[in-house]
Amino acid sequence: MNVEDVVQWVNNLIVDKTGEHLTPLQEAILTGVWQRQKYPQIAKDYNCNESHVKKEAAKLWEKLGEELGEDLNKFNFRSKLEKKYTISQVSNFVRCVKGNINICNEFVQTIEDTKTRSPFPPNSPQNNSQSPIIDLTDAPEFPYFYDRTSELSTLKQWILQAHTRLITIYGLSGIGKSAIALKLIEQIQTEFDYIIWLSLTNTPTLSTVQTELKQFFGRSQQPSLPTIIDYFRSSRCLVILDDVQNIFSSSQLAGQYLAGYEDYGKFFKQLATSSHQSCLILLSWEKPKEIANLEAENLSTRSLHLKGLGQEAAEIFQQKGLVDEEKWSDLIAIYQGHPSWLNIIAATILELFDGSVSLFLSDVNDLFLGDLEPILESHLKRLSESEKKALYWLATQKETVDISRKTTDSELSQSEFWQAIQSLGRRGLVEKVLVGGRSLFFLNPVFKAYIQCR
Ligand SMILES: Nc1ncnc2c1ncn2[C@@H]1O[C@H](COP(=O)(O)OP(=O)(O)O)[C@@H](O)[C@H]1O
Ligand SMILES: [Mg+2]
Repeated sequence: MNVEDVVQWVNNLIVDKTGEHLTPLQEAILTGVWQRQKYPQIAKDYNCNESHVKKEAAKLWEKLGEELGEDLNKFNFRSKLEKKYTISQVSNFVRCVKGNINICNEFVQTIEDTKTRSPFPPNSPQNNSQSPIIDLTDAPEFPYFYDRTSELSTLKQWILQAHTRLITIYGLSGIGKSAIALKLIEQIQTEFDYIIWLSLTNTPTLSTVQTELKQFFGRSQQPSLPTIIDYFRSSRCLVILDDVQNIFSSSQLAGQYLAGYEDYGKFFKQLATSSHQSCLILLSWEKPKEIANLEAENLSTRSLHLKGLGQEAAEIFQQKGLVDEEKWSDLIAIYQGHPSWLNIIAATILELFDGSVSLFLSDVNDLFLGDLEPILESHLKRLSESEKKALYWLATQKETVDISRKTTDSELSQSEFWQAIQSLGRRGLVEKVLVGGRSLFFLNPVFKAYIQCR
């Protein structure tokens, strides 16, 4: 932990709380105390009298102590911060290998901080400092993380080698989008100057999001820059926007913006097509409509359809204490390795069968949904009329479907039907398999079972 980082972190904390920056004297006090100097020495170096330093210091410890929930003074300031670092190191899901992280006002920084940063930034203000500034206040926390090796390596390749500017990770709710993005941050954080996670759960307008981003970048970069793209050019920024589906409309095809939110689309496009050295990651149930076109034009845009875990999902059962290990892979296959569904089903198995997977699976003809039903329903509620028709029709099909053949019984014209299938694919509800060079489509089997039993 070096003293400049400590001063910068305290400054950020105070700016957040009061809107004011540390005064030069307060900075001198923090620096002096961190270096175990006494107040008379600090006063002498700062060229002011000792009682003034003491008064200012007392105010500073009080303000900072309140913010950290600690009783701070000149004797314990350094050890309290160092202790916070140690606690965070063992308890935080996002562990800091190098650099520092600001998680819910926790300060985390490692002592080892040796890795050189990306070669990019020609005039980045952060270029010489090796500590990324990270704000994960908006991010969820998870106790466990299994696998995702191949998805993580794809994402790292896109970001670090191909310098992809806009990435969408899309897939069903609970499939692990937030979890994988947090893991990714943990693994690539030293390649960035700034990392921030913002949630769109409360449907903020674009201008609210832009203001938050500017405030975050502006805390450590003076003078502040006019637009987000300026920050994206001058530093390596990684921005994660979570729960992006909230700015999309229900009852329409996937990825259509709510009225008044269309400017997000332009913003995403601008970030994908302008030259800069940063990356925006969108986490969403649906793929935004621009993304497919930008991808098709190969404009530094990629999307990852996140699917379930493989056999590694068995760790969920292990951790929950289920038995009948020989049946675990059946359970994973039935619930598609979907981590959230598997957690819910495992809880049911414990509740009803004391953890016996064999007993739970004894009636294999009837797929148990239980507490999954409201989750599945929340996806169906968002569909357009044409998607519903296509979906109900797919639910009646016994086999994968060749959509080039006319589907006379689906009540939709061919073009409506194709558009609906495309949109259902962008929601991850309909999937594609290649058989003998032909694309065949099928409805997610768990949704199929749910629709059939409704
Ligand atoms: N790779 C993983 N290993 C273990 N648990 C996971 C994994 N991915 C997701 N989970 C669990 O599944 C749940 C949903 O994950 P989350 O990332 O919130 O999904 P999403 O963001 O797609 O809605 C969480 O409880 C999380 O702990
Ligand atoms: Mg999430």
